[in-house]
Amino acid sequence: MLPQRAPLLRRLLMAGALAASCTCFLLVLQAQASVPPRYDGFAYGVGAAAWKDAVLVEAFLDPLCPDSRDAWHPLRLAVERYSPMVSLIVHPFPLPYHTYSYHACRALHIANKLNSSSTYPLLELFFKNQGKFSNRATSSISSTAVTGEISKMAAQAVGNSVSEFQSGFSDMRSDMAARVSFKYGCTRGVAGAPFFFVNGFLQPGGGSPIDFSTWTSILEPLVAHHGQTIEMLTSVLMGNQ
Ligand SMILES: *[C@@H]1O[C@H](CO)[C@@H](O)[C@H](O)[C@H]1NC(C)=O
Repeated sequence: MLPQRAPLLRRLLMAGALAASCTCFLLVLQAQASVPPRYDGFAYGVGAAAWKDAVLVEAFLDPLCPDSRDAWHPLRLAVERYSPMVSLIVHPFPLPYHTYSYHACRALHIANKLNSSSTYPLLELFFKNQGKFSNRATSSISSTAVTGEISKMAAQAVGNSVSEFQSGFSDMRSDMAARVSFKYGCTRGVAGAPFFFVNGFLQPGGGSPIDFSTWTSILEPLVAHHGQTIEMLTSVLMGNQ
């Protein structure tokens, strides 16, 4: 009996092990962020549609983080200087130690849905009014009161009523969109704000702002190289005619 039983036992054990590893595999799959229908983030300005042909800067910013605020102005200036050869996508990335950052990121997604031109004006309003939504300022206020204040501020930029904006906080879609932004940052190894990527490559000094002259030194050679590539292509095409 034993020699016959042994293979059966082994088969059962193997089936069990296989099932266990499948479950494990499924758990790993489930832990990964699901793929959103569009690339995450808010494309900035006029060159937004053509970012595949440009040097792509991606910034992970927390609307309530002072370093992200300080990083914004030089980044915007640099991108505008080289636009449309440089494009920018901002991914909202809420740091957990800023209590209402996730709500602020959600507000950006709500604004983006209601009036896409208002996303960046709202981001700038958050930067300007960070003190109002800081941990200290909000420590004894309910979260409903905080989203009420955010909605009041955001409604100005968006051009909708305060209540219409605030109802965006009950819409699961703004929650999902903000989660996707956060999870996307995690998949890129973002561990602070601001974090910058240029053509997909992480720039050193993550968590600190990059000043304008540093941006120029990063972008100038890439833009110049881009110009050369176009010239080379043009001369090849002309030569072939
Ligand atoms: C959309 O937002 C922009 C930027 O804040 C604003 O100028 C424009 O008036 C808004 N559009 C509407 C329809 O309210």
